[in-house]
Amino acid sequence: MNVGDEQTVSLWMDTDVLLKAPALRRNEKADTVVIGSGIAGLSTAYELAERGHDVVVLDRGAIAKGMTSRTTAHLTSLSDDSFDALIKMRDLEGAKIFYQSHSAAIDRIETIQRDRSIACNFRRVDGYLFPALGHDASELDPELDAGRKIGVEMEDARGLPFRGLSDTRCLRYLNQGTFHPLRYLRGVAAAIQNHGGRIYANTTVEKVEEDEDGVTVSTAGGKSVRAKFAVVATNSPIIDRLTIHTKQAPYRTYAMAFTIPRGTIGDALYWDTLDEYHYVRLQPGPGTTDYLIVGGADHKTGEADDAPARFDEIEAWIGQLIPDLGREVHRWSGQILDPIDYAAFIGLNPGNDRIYIATGDSGQGMTHGVIASILLSDLIVKGENPWSEFYDPSRKIPSGIKNFIVENATVLKNFAEYIAPGELASVKELKPGQGAIIRDGLRKIAAYRDDKGKLHKCSAVCTHVGCHIHWNSLERCWDCPCHGSQFAIDGTVLNGPAIAPLEKL
Ligand code: FES
Repeated sequence: MNVGDEQTVSLWMDTDVLLKAPALRRNEKADTVVIGSGIAGLSTAYELAERGHDVVVLDRGAIAKGMTSRTTAHLTSLSDDSFDALIKMRDLEGAKIFYQSHSAAIDRIETIQRDRSIACNFRRVDGYLFPALGHDASELDPELDAGRKIGVEMEDARGLPFRGLSDTRCLRYLNQGTFHPLRYLRGVAAAIQNHGGRIYANTTVEKVEEDEDGVTVSTAGGKSVRAKFAVVATNSPIIDRLTIHTKQAPYRTYAMAFTIPRGTIGDALYWDTLDEYHYVRLQPGPGTTDYLIVGGADHKTGEADDAPARFDEIEAWIGQLIPDLGREVHRWSGQILDPIDYAAFIGLNPGNDRIYIATGDSGQGMTHGVIASILLSDLIVKGENPWSEFYDPSRKIPSGIKNFIVENATVLKNFAEYIAPGELASVKELKPGQGAIIRDGLRKIAAYRDDKGKLHKCSAVCTHVGCHIHWNSLERCWDCPCHGSQFAIDGTVLNGPAIAPLEKL
């Protein structure tokens, strides 16, 4: 493990598909500069390049190695908060736009991989929503009703390829999809370069400034990119202190991949109705073996550090449904940003005229990322898109709604940690491989002892807006519960919105 990497490796990272790119070593000019090289950033750069824009893409790490490489890559046009809840939150017209835009995103991926001959295992598959084990099937009724009102291609069906569920009622959704996200993005990145776009890795953006004529993006290496427009697609926007961050909350989710004999279950997407739902899909493997990917057991970032128990829960759950599961080949975690009114924030950054953002991916980062590419390229090139109002980052969210109060309570609770005692009395108590928050007089330190016994100490105060970070023993990094920043053991930023590293002590 390198300092600056998270610990776990997803099924996608196991294949050597990441695009190698240089760091930015000279000043650049472009029509649009895109910050972030996950699915939202690369797809947006692709759409703009296709439309004749000169684009530059910058990423603080390796290309596509952020949260996009930790997805399970379900391509679905459903709402993972349920259509029933979405209609109540955003009304029927809003729910229709959600469904149409997510369907269009799947169509767009299908078109691009076909037109560009990208070998990324793209398949059209059905999706199945089934009652959580022990729950009554009648809990599917509101979703069936909501789907019919929206015009979703779906059926009230029976029978799942899982033990004991061969006659269970479920909802079958047509025309969903799945793919290998990093192979796909490798092809997209190559197409951007073929259009003359430049892609830079290991380039940390420190500032994004807007003036009347354009934007200037400055990097930690002392270089800059001058452009007419900037798109900030950094999972969590690095340019916002609070506005957007009060409207979404970070959650950590867990995934595992097992071998499974091909044909054991049908190639489809499967979800149950638990609040922190389980999700299952297949990925082609070698010979007659496939990989079964299963995930779930989410929790708010930084509010639990019990990954082994969560993986046990996932394994026990899938073991009940598929007794013939093979060996585990990967386990990993990732972070999602859950928008409190159930759809991403895509459009002009509040208060800016030339800086656009894409964030609030929820459990649907792949489709939200591609929606961002369609929507933002339209806004930049034509000035309009029919989905823009629905996804507008400046949209009003009633501050009285339950989600707003619950999610923002995290920040208040976290600030109380300034006066709370540390987790250990002294760094002497730290065992190799362990991290903990320790009080040192008036301040708190984030201390980690590596496997060789060396102590790494940083300030425990997140450089975004000052919340206290928490230890993540699975990924061996520090997580900020407030807005999802992540820091490596040496304080380097792994994931925004923080820009500056933790203060080293
Ligand atoms: Fe906002 Fe840490 S991510 S305070």
